[in-house]
Amino acid sequence: MTNEKVTMDEIVNLAKRRGFVYPGSDIYGGSANTWDYGPYGVLLKNNVKAAWWQDMVMKRMDIVGLDAAILMNPKVWEASGHLGNFTDPLVECKNCKSRFRQDKLESDICPSCGKNEWEEPRNFNLMFKTFAGPVEDTASTIYLRPETAQGMFVNFKNILDTTRVKLPFGIAQIGKSFRNEITPGNFTFRTREFEQFEMEYFCKSADEAKLKYDEWLKARRDWYLGLGIRKENLNFRVHEQDELAHYAVAACDVEYNFPFGWSELEGIANRGTYDLEAHEKASGQELRYFDDETKEKILPHVIEPAGGVDRATLAFLVDAYAQEEVSEGDVRTVLKFHPKLAPIKAAIFPLVKKEPLLGLAKDITDKLKQKFFVEYDESGTVGKRYRRQDEIGTPFCITVDFDGAESTPQTVTIRHRDSMEQERIEVEKLEEWLEDKIG
Ligand code: GAP
Repeated sequence: MTNEKVTMDEIVNLAKRRGFVYPGSDIYGGSANTWDYGPYGVLLKNNVKAAWWQDMVMKRMDIVGLDAAILMNPKVWEASGHLGNFTDPLVECKNCKSRFRQDKLESDICPSCGKNEWEEPRNFNLMFKTFAGPVEDTASTIYLRPETAQGMFVNFKNILDTTRVKLPFGIAQIGKSFRNEITPGNFTFRTREFEQFEMEYFCKSADEAKLKYDEWLKARRDWYLGLGIRKENLNFRVHEQDELAHYAVAACDVEYNFPFGWSELEGIANRGTYDLEAHEKASGQELRYFDDETKEKILPHVIEPAGGVDRATLAFLVDAYAQEEVSEGDVRTVLKFHPKLAPIKAAIFPLVKKEPLLGLAKDITDKLKQKFFVEYDESGTVGKRYRRQDEIGTPFCITVDFDGAESTPQTVTIRHRDSMEQERIEVEKLEEWLEDKIG
């Protein structure tokens, strides 16, 4: 069975059973649409973030990183347009008082009670509002950021003043964002608290921004495919002119074929000069780049690849899922993660619980754990141990047997998760071998 047939129930069950994702506040019966990443989930998600950070910041000389505060001056949200425009149309059923996002209703019938009697729709602002400090009044109203992007715009001047960046250049950030979604759902796909990876790429002119927009479309496609997403499950959907956000000159959704249908993983937008211009006006600070060559002050045009960490993590999980018949009647569940994303890189097994196998397996574990997330497992048959690792996506299982432990030089067998083939490797070469395979 391929993942074309995987259901969200299978994903949610496996995620809970194997410690990837638990329902939030589980012992209290959960807290609607909140999810906690468990021991393997946090490793997977961290690997997704690290892969993005490496690609965006480490491997590029033209992009710098940032970690801005979640609580920002409310004037930021006034200037960015979020206070005025960041709304969804909300409708309330007159009969049962349930509330829905009007644009997501499939018919005029209330999904809760089946009646067709609605209050007038109204615009509902998605920003979470709270108070800073002990006094709850309008002067202390503050918002949880609904996107990380504004952190980059308000720090544009700081970065120009304190680093040697030259246009075109980018500022990247990974962090939590919050939206009071009317209808969260589909597991971790739409939640009220989520993580984003966003990058603002500042360009000299509208023409340069157009070129860079195309480059970023390609770069983001390569990133998802390079980490194992199947080509047929990825789609780039260009926005029609009438569907563009208030700030966008052009935009494209990166979509993934989830079990609940094609849905947005990431948005890539040409935001023009909208944000810097708005913050310049509202803050009274000049947000221009001084071009040493032309002696001109430039208001840069911005290209923004804005993705969701939780959505990307879910897509990698769904795409990796497979059920395979190993022999007649024997089916294995396997997560075929790219080795870079796999939570556990290798598992070490002594073939039987006897010396010298136990000692050597523990020595290998002690050495490898300095560099990689590995597991040691001596319980049950080797077949069962393989299955446990297949289900969490461990790409390599290292078995210590008598032949290898007693030979000179000492060797082990490595079983590959996807092909299930085995090869023999010298113990001394294991670390280098793993490093090479994981990349
Ligand atoms: N700065 C632009 C921006 O925030 P967006 O399309 O609203 O654009 C970017 O958000 C990405 O953030 C989305 O493509 C999605 O992956 C993620 N995202 C947005 N809302 C989300 C939610 N409620 N739950 C999980 N991820 C979400």
